[in-house]
Amino acid sequence: MIEQRRADGSLRHLVTLEGLQRAEVEALLDRSRGYARRLGERPPATRTLAGVTIANLFTEPSTRTRVSFELAGRRLGAEVVNLEVQLSSRVKGESMLDTIFTLQALHFDVFVIRDAEPGVLSLVATEVAPGVSVLSAGEAHLSHPTQGLLDALTVRQYKGDIGALRIAIVGDIRHSRVARSAYQIFRLLEAREVRIVAPPALMPEPLEFAGCPRFETLEEGLEGVDVVMMLRVQKERLARTDVPDGDEYFARFGLTARRLARARPDAIVMHPQPMNRGVEIASEVADGPQSVIRSQVSNGVAVRMAVLETVAAGLAHGRGKA
Ligand code: NCD
Repeated sequence: MIEQRRADGSLRHLVTLEGLQRAEVEALLDRSRGYARRLGERPPATRTLAGVTIANLFTEPSTRTRVSFELAGRRLGAEVVNLEVQLSSRVKGESMLDTIFTLQALHFDVFVIRDAEPGVLSLVATEVAPGVSVLSAGEAHLSHPTQGLLDALTVRQYKGDIGALRIAIVGDIRHSRVARSAYQIFRLLEAREVRIVAPPALMPEPLEFAGCPRFETLEEGLEGVDVVMMLRVQKERLARTDVPDGDEYFARFGLTARRLARARPDAIVMHPQPMNRGVEIASEVADGPQSVIRSQVSNGVAVRMAVLETVAAGLAHGRGKA
């Protein structure tokens, strides 16, 4: 595991939630709450990151994550540059490093990276200049730390103390970085129960999510839960062909109002998006009264502001920059 902290213990990189202390996550969530606004309210804007330059490097498609990292930087007064990198000829992350070294010569303080290859984020974090921070915007199927944070923030906002809650993560757990980061953060915050619900082909290996209750039908898996987190079938990562698709998936695993009735009446429904309506979720649920999906999107900006501000607070360490 890579070292994400500076010598003084402050957070420099956020590549994974693994290894973070509960107090560090609580501090990030508290800071995020300060930036969170209700839907429709004017977002906050400050200049605390004036003079800081951020590069967004995405080698996989993204809408929400990229836009919200960009807005987060701009709303803190930073300069943000978006780069869509085509790395088709890449060998083991080397072209990513070349890109990073080139950009470093132009003076960037923070690299926000989304990449499909496991390990590239950690490699970059180890190789960047001392004053530079690396933030994950999603790494392969492995982790998506800011998504985990925004999910925890959203659950707290609607349901209060996570320690009292039963949380079901539903769908393509096997290929989902969102599921892995959600599981980590909800365990760290000591949720009463985190369970995974998936058809057998989309379950993770037994050693992953160890000790977590597993359900292979939606009906059983939703029984009595407070939070239902739906996931998209990650077709781009699917190697096997025994996974039901489209209508068949919906018939077996689609979240309908009728199935949702198994959960607690005040349960909330989440989805990181992009959503496949009529595959993993029915529109009546996605747009229904229990859905908090739009708040997740809005909280994404608040969380990314908090993370950027946290790592930028230590920029002076590496470069003598105020
Ligand atoms: C997800 C992702 O890319 O990991 N989207 C997101 O960041 N909100 C989920 C997905 O692609 O299904």
